[in-house]
Amino acid sequence: LSSWQALDRSGVWRYRELLPPLPAAAIVTRPEGNTALYQHPQLTDWTGCEELFLKHEGENPTGSFKDRGMTVAISHARTIGAQAVACASTGNTAASVAAYAALAGLPSVVFLPAGKIAAGKLGQAIAYGARIVQVEGDFDAAMRLVEEASRELGLYLLNSVNPFRLEGQKTIVFELLHQLGWSVPDWIVLPGGNLGNTAAFGAALAQLRDVGWLERLPRLAVIQAAGAAPFYAAYRSGFREFRPVTAETIATAIRIGNPVSYERARRAIELTDGLVDTVSDEEILEAKARVDRTGIGCEPASAASVAGVRKLVARGVIRPGDRVVAILTGHVLKDPDAVLAYHLGDPPRPLANRPVTIAPTLDALAG
Ligand code: F0G
Repeated sequence: LSSWQALDRSGVWRYRELLPPLPAAAIVTRPEGNTALYQHPQLTDWTGCEELFLKHEGENPTGSFKDRGMTVAISHARTIGAQAVACASTGNTAASVAAYAALAGLPSVVFLPAGKIAAGKLGQAIAYGARIVQVEGDFDAAMRLVEEASRELGLYLLNSVNPFRLEGQKTIVFELLHQLGWSVPDWIVLPGGNLGNTAAFGAALAQLRDVGWLERLPRLAVIQAAGAAPFYAAYRSGFREFRPVTAETIATAIRIGNPVSYERARRAIELTDGLVDTVSDEEILEAKARVDRTGIGCEPASAASVAGVRKLVARGVIRPGDRVVAILTGHVLKDPDAVLAYHLGDPPRPLANRPVTIAPTLDALAG
């Protein structure tokens, strides 16, 4: 895909005037974006909001928002003649790197915290042919290792420390505002882990404001899992201090204790008069079950944004009449184990949907 016409099919490259210029011939695109902005009355009611939109970034080619950053960064890697690419990942970045590197004909190495990657994501990285290094340690250890390894071995680093990743992820904001007819919502709510997306959203909003496109900015609300909330702790200190934490949460995508994009994310919160909050794993799982039951579906980390909306409405922070966009960052198929743990676990959860097993007879069915 290299003609401008083909690039217009991508929800990233459609906004190329707002992105770094790269030669069309170097661009690798599936294409990305063009993700739906849903409204669902039951879910809106459940959060207590009056107007809630769900921007489903799980509808990207590999099932997460990472593809928007990856098309730009991989295209940059090709432009400069990189020989091999690498990332550390809680899973989605790895799946996206593996797919886009394969499309670009580049070898890729992904560093994963051993045993902490959802099955769908690990399966994708294996299937797309990345070389997979499972690190005995958490994501933060894998991140440190890949930064050293890319320096020593000359690997092109595809984590969100790479500014081209963030350039692509800005288009989530461009596209959602475009879908709203360039009217500005009151809130954009998103999950926070390594904080690349938060940084990208801040950069996108600053850029649109600077070109005079927005009369005001939406407020960013970043939601972390309570067990993996270093950004929240920093926010609570008025951003006076930041301390890495040991992270633990069922939402493995955001099981991160030392986010690499902390500084840029802090600026995004300050720019937009935003806030940071947390939700418990149980709140994440219930929100996910609600989103799943609508037929829209998402992975656990994504549901943190919906759980966050509910909490912020209950606390009176999001007010009646506010227009809210919550970002669903990943697809329901990414983490089948989380689905089964919720629905098959004991004691039964509120929305549990348990399969039954029967003999192949009508009698058994009637019983
Ligand atoms: N939601 C999902 C589904 C994710 O995969 C991630 C991050 C986030 C939210 C948080 O976004 O890091 O920009 O604050 N996943 C990364 C990965 C870390 O390796 O796939 P963030």
